[in-house]
Amino acid sequence: MTEIRLVRGDITEMSVDAIVNAANSSLLGGGGVDGAIHRRGGPEILAECRALRASHWGRGLATGEAVATTAGRLAARHVIHTVGPVWSADEDRGGLLAQCYRSSLRVAAELGAETVAFPAISTGVYRWPLDDAARIALGTVAESAAPPVRTVWFVLFDAPAYAAFAAVHTR
Ligand code: APR
Repeated sequence: MTEIRLVRGDITEMSVDAIVNAANSSLLGGGGVDGAIHRRGGPEILAECRALRASHWGRGLATGEAVATTAGRLAARHVIHTVGPVWSADEDRGGLLAQCYRSSLRVAAELGAETVAFPAISTGVYRWPLDDAARIALGTVAESAAPPVRTVWFVLFDAPAYAAFAAVHTR
């Protein structure tokens, strides 16, 4: 049974096997958590992202997919980059958001990761409502996480995000 923990903080400071980045399809960096990971992780991360673009992901990483790179100077060993869906009032993209968590957990397992940290994917620039994102994130991880992954952290950057996840995560 995988343990799910919530913590308020900065994902770049997590000493876990893999942290997950809320990237965009270019894999070439951005703002938010993407910007923080590249800024603090250093150029090795971007170098490996460029190599991924030059090889398998020439057209960019598709929404819901996940790929791994080094974590560079960060305490973590790997960064798993995934592309969340942009929230839409007209279309239910919840399946794509759930797929981000499943894909990231699959990549983490392939890496042999035992501890994984997620941000609240799509809840910043991509405007996903926190309560719905928390429901999808926690539900998907609870049903999808499996060995070797034994602990999954959700690292919530601010009080509203923490409150939204805590409201869903009763355990
Ligand atoms: N640690 C943990 N969480 C963070 C950090 C951090 N250092 N910085 C931001 N966050 C939180 C935000 O507060 C939000 O709750 O991560 C969540 C996701 O927000 P974004 O980083 O904006 O990501 P997202 O909404 O998925 O949008 C992705 O934004 O930065 C660009 O390149 C990225 O185009 C992509 C888009």
